[in-house]
Amino acid sequence: MSMSKCQQLSSALFKQQKNVRLMSLWWSNVEQGPPDAILGVTEAFKRDKNPQKINLGVGAYRDDNGSPYVLPSVIQAENRLLKKNLNKEYAPISGILEFCNESIKLALSAESPIIKNGCFASIQSISGTGALRVGAEFLKRYAPLKTIWVPVPTWGNHGQIFKFSGLEVKTYRYYDPKTCGLDFSGMIDDLSSAPTGSVILLHACAHNPTGVDPKPEQWKELSDLLKKKKLFPFFDMAYQGFASGNVDRDAVAVRTFLSDGHQIALAQSFAKNMGLYGERAGLFSLTSLDTDEANRIMSQLKIIIRGMYSNPPIHGARLVSEILTDPQLKSHWMVEVKGMADRIISVRDKLKELLANEGSTRNWQHITDQIGMFCYTGLEKEHVKKLIEDHSVYLTNDGRISMAGVTSKNVGYLANAIHKVTSQ
Ligand SMILES: Cc1ncc(COP(=O)(O)O)c(C=O)c1O
Repeated sequence: MSMSKCQQLSSALFKQQKNVRLMSLWWSNVEQGPPDAILGVTEAFKRDKNPQKINLGVGAYRDDNGSPYVLPSVIQAENRLLKKNLNKEYAPISGILEFCNESIKLALSAESPIIKNGCFASIQSISGTGALRVGAEFLKRYAPLKTIWVPVPTWGNHGQIFKFSGLEVKTYRYYDPKTCGLDFSGMIDDLSSAPTGSVILLHACAHNPTGVDPKPEQWKELSDLLKKKKLFPFFDMAYQGFASGNVDRDAVAVRTFLSDGHQIALAQSFAKNMGLYGERAGLFSLTSLDTDEANRIMSQLKIIIRGMYSNPPIHGARLVSEILTDPQLKSHWMVEVKGMADRIISVRDKLKELLANEGSTRNWQHITDQIGMFCYTGLEKEHVKKLIEDHSVYLTNDGRISMAGVTSKNVGYLANAIHKVTSQ
């Protein structure tokens, strides 16, 4: 019996609807993920109508008017690039060679024997995050133990970068909430218990989120310990120059370990110190015993990258090369980095002073002892809630404030708000 035209149509429609239903079943097991903790703060800030609101959640530098800052050296480099009329062909898998060579020199110093003897493998990465990710992928394949130890607390993204690469993540003590400073003995104890062959993630300077760094003599002690215990140091250097205002001083940890004969992994980022956040310019490096080992490492890094994203973006790396290869432009940049670091140091001083003027009897010494973009205030969850709800001051739940969001205009309002919530 043949179907009527109407029956045929409704049967086709039914089949189509069934297909759609089947397709939606493919992803019915996908759960709603939580929003990013830091970006969530910015969203709430944007909705707030209070004209005095302050966003201390973002990890990006702001000038004294609270505006994003494009460094004059970067603008100059950009103008020069425009005049060069360059094409947009792919970079090699390992990135722009000049960029890689200049970046590693910045971290290790041009005089480093490692550089002079070619005992390193460096690849351009998708900023610091990409450097950590490629490094973790390499470690998962070749490290004797697939375990990485990270400090407590650490940058919120570390855990998932390493976990997604297949490494096991363990933690060591780092921050002491009682002193708002370094728990050095806890750190030493925990690292002493890490099995030989473990990878140890170290923030090279301006620890995020605490702003607490080991002193040079403590770095030396850590270097001795890691050597004795045969632990492998992986430095995350996202803030070179941004901590003290001096790129060499901020490289002291990395250089101490190298002069003690360690082989290291190093992730660098130009997001903060050149303000190239969205350009995604970074470097991943491993130091090696000799050039033969460096070549073999390099070949494997290229295989990893080819399978992940083929090759890195070109514009940010060209900007960095332009700046680092011209001594004059490089010295302008150094002055600008120092300017950013100095502004942050000065608002730290001001905030501490104004809290005292408000009559706060709490100890705020850590505001000026800590370094870099972030201050781990020691404010508790209740204080944070009140700061947001009663004063429109936005910060992350752990009491971390980005000092970059503090200006000479809002520091008084901020000190008053902090004093009110902590004295209630
Ligand atoms: C400790 C630390 N490592 C790495 C990064 C990576 O940043 P990016 O991928 O933007 O270079 C950041 C950025 O906030 C950071 O704070």
